[in-house]
Amino acid sequence: MKEDIGDKLDIGDKLDIGDKLDFAKGLEDVVASTTSIGYLDGQLGKLVYRGYDIFDLADFSTFEETVYLLLYGKLPTRIELVTFKDKLVSYRPVMDEVMDRLDRLPCPCHPMSLLRSGISLMECIDETCQVAQGIEDKQEMGIKLIAQMPTLTAGIARILTNEQPVPPDPGLDHAANFLYMLTGERADPLAERVMDVSLILHADHGMNASTFSALVVAATLSDLHSAITSGISALKGPLHGGANEMVIRMLLKLHSEEEAENYADEVIAANKKIMGFGHRVYKTIDPRAKILQQYAEDLSNITGNQQLYRVARIIEKRGMEAYGKKGVCPNIDFYSGLVYHNLGIHTDMFTPIFAVSRTAGWVARILEYLENNRIFRPRAVYVGPKGLNYVPIDERD
Ligand SMILES: CC(C)(COP(=O)(O)OP(=O)(O)OC[C@H]1O[C@@H](n2cnc3c(N)ncnc32)[C@H](O)[C@@H]1OP(=O)(O)O)[C@@H](O)C(=O)NCCC(=O)NCCS
Repeated sequence: MKEDIGDKLDIGDKLDIGDKLDFAKGLEDVVASTTSIGYLDGQLGKLVYRGYDIFDLADFSTFEETVYLLLYGKLPTRIELVTFKDKLVSYRPVMDEVMDRLDRLPCPCHPMSLLRSGISLMECIDETCQVAQGIEDKQEMGIKLIAQMPTLTAGIARILTNEQPVPPDPGLDHAANFLYMLTGERADPLAERVMDVSLILHADHGMNASTFSALVVAATLSDLHSAITSGISALKGPLHGGANEMVIRMLLKLHSEEEAENYADEVIAANKKIMGFGHRVYKTIDPRAKILQQYAEDLSNITGNQQLYRVARIIEKRGMEAYGKKGVCPNIDFYSGLVYHNLGIHTDMFTPIFAVSRTAGWVARILEYLENNRIFRPRAVYVGPKGLNYVPIDERD
């Protein structure tokens, strides 16, 4: 029996499928929901969480306060913040069984894969996860996940270097405790502040690929952990969060200003992409990159890594000269890797650190979306063959 699958299933009657296909590849500029959590202005280079400019939050806030803001829509009072921080601290531990199982995985895989697997294991092993069905339960589970992400991530970093995970220190704030769990030693105040600011800057960023992935999963009414693993999976890619790792790998190959100039010449002549440049929404420099660039310079002066910083500035300058006029400018990933490198963090851990922070945005946006949930179900224009007759296997060429 002949079946015109294309017409029946995949071509919507509202789609113009003449010479011009009326669709947005990569969903560019497609609006899929409303939100009051935050927005970015791509022309002005502005990022706002709940009405507050990212520059103010970077100057005056802390990660815990910013998470509260994202989740509850307002800055906390002093007492609300203390209570919220206590809750985060109480939720920090990750079950030993999760870490043991991750440690016993035979594969030498990327820590993002271990992170994704760790979240899955947490959901399988921790019985409280299975009963978190309603929005209030999911909110509590989301806060727990935000608190556990640094513990899980630092534990994975330790597993990869054959060291024992370091238990969280309840006396330390979120960023300071994360650095402590990575090394087993208290970091200096500048390092702790820089990590805090970096976590603030990465916490939320509109309808980016990982947030959208997490929302797509959450909107099916699947569990929160599944949605977060989806976010982690999307974030891992080099076009998204994985770019921070690619940038530092590029910079570390360039041992002098001259090599940086030559490399920039080659890339630009071949019209290739520079990692850490470009953005779907920003058509000017990403405001977060401006903030982290300053921290990268400060840290480089302290660590003596000025050469690497100068190399980065050359690539940035040449990239801006070549691509800036078409709105391709440095994004946060251009400088975050340089910051983490100067904090002594292994390159493989850069994208997991992004996830440590972005979990806050994923959770906030999932909870907001679920308040007025609708499953995501876009269409695709069918451009394949139609009306084919099924050929039995023995009669095929
Ligand atoms: C972020 C990114 C995936 C956005 O992709 P997008 O919105 O689909 O943009 P496109 O890839 O279609 O690029 C649009 C134009 O900008 C150029 N461009 C985009 N990113 C570029 C980069 N990093 N370097 C040089 N040119 C770039 C493209 O070549 C294209 O030019 P053209 O119109 O002359 O053909 C893309 O900019 C990119 O790959 N950047 C590098 C990876 C990165 O840093 N990701 C982190 C993002 S926060």
